[in-house]
Amino acid sequence: MAPAAAAGELVSQMTPEERLWCLDGDAPTWAGLAFMHQENGYHKAPFVAAQVERLGIPGIAFSDGPRGAVIGNATCFPVTMARAATWDPALEERVGEAIGRELRTLGANLTGAVCVNLLRHPAWGRAQETYGEDPHHVGELGAALTRGLQRHVMACVKHFACNSMENARFSVDIEVDEVALHEVYLPHFRRVVDEGVAAVMSAYNSVNGDWCAESTNLLTDVLRGEWGFEGYVISDWILGLRDAAKSLGAGLDIEMPYRMVRAQHLPGALDRGDARWEDVNAAVTRVVSSLLRFGEMLGAPAPPIGVVGCDEHRQLARQVAGRAVVLLRNEAVEGTPVLPLPSATKSVAVFGRLAGAVNLGDGGSSDVWDLDCHTILDGLRAEFAGEVRYDDGSDTARAVTLASNAEACVVVAGYTYRDEGEYIGDAGSGLAHLLPPSDEPGVVEAYEASLRDLRSVDAPERLSERPKGFSIGGDRSSLRLPDPDVELIRAVAAENPRTVVVIQAGSAVIVSEWADSVAAIVQAWYGGCRAGPGLADVLLGKVNPSARLPFSVPVDEADLPAFDRDATSFRYDRWHGWWHLARAGRKPAFPFGFGLSYTTFALTHVGLLSAHDGVTVTGTVSNTGDMDGAEVVQVYAELPDPEAPPRLVGFSRIEVAAGGKETFEVRVPRRRLETRDPVAHTSRPASGRHRFLVGRHACDPESTAIEVDLS
Ligand code: BGC
Repeated sequence: MAPAAAAGELVSQMTPEERLWCLDGDAPTWAGLAFMHQENGYHKAPFVAAQVERLGIPGIAFSDGPRGAVIGNATCFPVTMARAATWDPALEERVGEAIGRELRTLGANLTGAVCVNLLRHPAWGRAQETYGEDPHHVGELGAALTRGLQRHVMACVKHFACNSMENARFSVDIEVDEVALHEVYLPHFRRVVDEGVAAVMSAYNSVNGDWCAESTNLLTDVLRGEWGFEGYVISDWILGLRDAAKSLGAGLDIEMPYRMVRAQHLPGALDRGDARWEDVNAAVTRVVSSLLRFGEMLGAPAPPIGVVGCDEHRQLARQVAGRAVVLLRNEAVEGTPVLPLPSATKSVAVFGRLAGAVNLGDGGSSDVWDLDCHTILDGLRAEFAGEVRYDDGSDTARAVTLASNAEACVVVAGYTYRDEGEYIGDAGSGLAHLLPPSDEPGVVEAYEASLRDLRSVDAPERLSERPKGFSIGGDRSSLRLPDPDVELIRAVAAENPRTVVVIQAGSAVIVSEWADSVAAIVQAWYGGCRAGPGLADVLLGKVNPSARLPFSVPVDEADLPAFDRDATSFRYDRWHGWWHLARAGRKPAFPFGFGLSYTTFALTHVGLLSAHDGVTVTGTVSNTGDMDGAEVVQVYAELPDPEAPPRLVGFSRIEVAAGGKETFEVRVPRRRLETRDPVAHTSRPASGRHRFLVGRHACDPESTAIEVDLS
């Protein structure tokens, strides 16, 4: 029997109480909060919902997250934004598979790892959890992660929609017109839905006046009506919805993670006729049919516990950490580029408070308690044959002395979870009325019994110095490096011309004030458990850098659209990212899609292969240098409407041996060129004269233009 029909059967056998039970988390609110806050429960067990033992319905068991399993002491991969910089969906799929495997072993069957909100502005505190500023690029990487994860667990894409600022997320209303919403803020969600993602998580913020968990337009008209989504929708955590009846009518299936707003108010609303049993049945049927759809996978035995933190996953983490390093600048000193460090180098001096720190990124919901992490200093000490000396940079005069005695210097600068990440702040204070006065005793008893059953693996060791609660981090207050970092960079670079700056951050950092004074700059992100070895592979030339920026780096913050982290309402339009800079006539410091290599490439024979159902462009990438490397060919489209922003519509990462050449094909299906018709409320098929630019980044002056008439 098809899952939907079989689910209908099962739901018809449920009592009314069992059906309502499926519409929120199974844990009682106060006992659940106590477990999470007082016992590190977030890192011990998944959040369970919709479990009905009498009918053999396993329910969902949710755990984050974006850079690895948050339960136990799992493998911490480089953050999502780092992986975005690989421009390599196949690699991202492997990461998804590894994260999914560990999650499944640790007791989860659903994960919120797939965050695809757009990086509208680099100050967004959770920038590191997503893939960047461009809808197509974000969608392809998010779809790849989903494919990998869904070999082991169900995936949940989040936060639907327009959640691109952090501090104000519980209160801000995003005003966005239909064209901007559908052409810029939703295509990547649709891409992940098309990939078959099991679940969608609604965002905390409201869009055009409706809280996302209560938006019929988003959850029913767009997601299910237009896109044909057949999975289920869960709310964001704890303060994710306010009106039980409205959320049900709008199409939200499960309130997560506790028995909170719905458990208090839905029975009364149904009695009064303010909510409908048809909607209850439809929501429960969607959840159960999804569990059946994934039934074979979820019924298979979980992988053995040894997969958590296994060598294979660690090696993958190292590979990704190296692949994610973006080489932004590499000037010659005495005729030779500073990187890679020549094998004859005898001494390297490493500076900065972050060089010896385990710096994994956000300390909120994406925090992974990995205890086997190799810092940048560890990586260089293990891989570099010569002498590595370290100074934390707190005393500039001392640092300068060390710099003058080393052949090359590496200064590590940037941020930590204290500067950017998830943020709760005092959100709860105005929303305390949403919490129930007390828990239901019978539910507490069952919950406590389930906690007693937790296996020993679910008692992770805490990473040292982690924040209590999620109330640090948040949106960045500046895009500059901290003043002491800038002072250290200038002092070291003034003393030693072979100075390399390594940036650890979740998104763009403005470097213009000091970039010209250093020979080399790399963006190394929060590189996960093998950040150090991965970076060392690149600095020492064992890996040729092939990463490309998943966002633009402006010269000045004033070049970007406005950002207000305290906004109560905010307008999103079609203009941000590289296309905003182009329209404003602002040359970026480093454009979207940009990254250097240790070799050189030429793109030749670029042309149109076919214009059937979209276009396919082809060409040849030649590696004109003497080191194997990879180029990322990027295809941008200018649409016939001069008011429409241009778009990235395709890309392909191509490995080419030194001196060799490879042909490439990038297919651009017609659907990627659609626009939104705000009158008919549908997509408008592509037609008319399109100009495609095939090049190596969004501002590549050597791009080849191809004009195609799609009428
Ligand atoms: C975050 C979500 C996350 C959830 C559960 C919330 O605070 O906004 O992204 O999935 O917690 O961990």
